[in-house]
Amino acid sequence: MSADLFAAAQAAMKNSHSPYSKFPVGAAIRTGSGTIHAGCNVENASYPEGWCAETSAIAHMIMGGEAEIAEVLVLAEKMDKVSPCGGCRQRISEFAAPDTPIHLCDQKGVVQTLTLAQLLPAGFGLHD
Ligand code: THU
Repeated sequence: MSADLFAAAQAAMKNSHSPYSKFPVGAAIRTGSGTIHAGCNVENASYPEGWCAETSAIAHMIMGGEAEIAEVLVLAEKMDKVSPCGGCRQRISEFAAPDTPIHLCDQKGVVQTLTLAQLLPAGFGLHD
């Protein structure tokens, strides 16, 4: 059930700092133990220094002492089925498995679920 992940991403998206793109994004991760960690995008006046919602959620997960991603959900206020950028796919892959589900949403809930392997085929990794 992804309703709890969706609610966490919605709440995180409200905290988005995106005055430059005006494109708020929220992301939520369920860890192997079942805990949910969420995050929003955080932009910067020096544009390349901003980062994505998925990256914030990963940082929260690591600070919570966990390092296993079981499920990811991403939500954007102004785009249905927003999908993690290439850099975030690589960051997710550090802590997830090829079959880890990534949920894409509209404003009501999940509309498509892809696996990490579908989003990042032949990705780079140094360990199993
Ligand atoms: N963004 C995310 O936070 N996650 C995504 O999956 C796509 C893009 C952010 C980065 C930037 O703050 C804004 O959306 C516009 O690109």
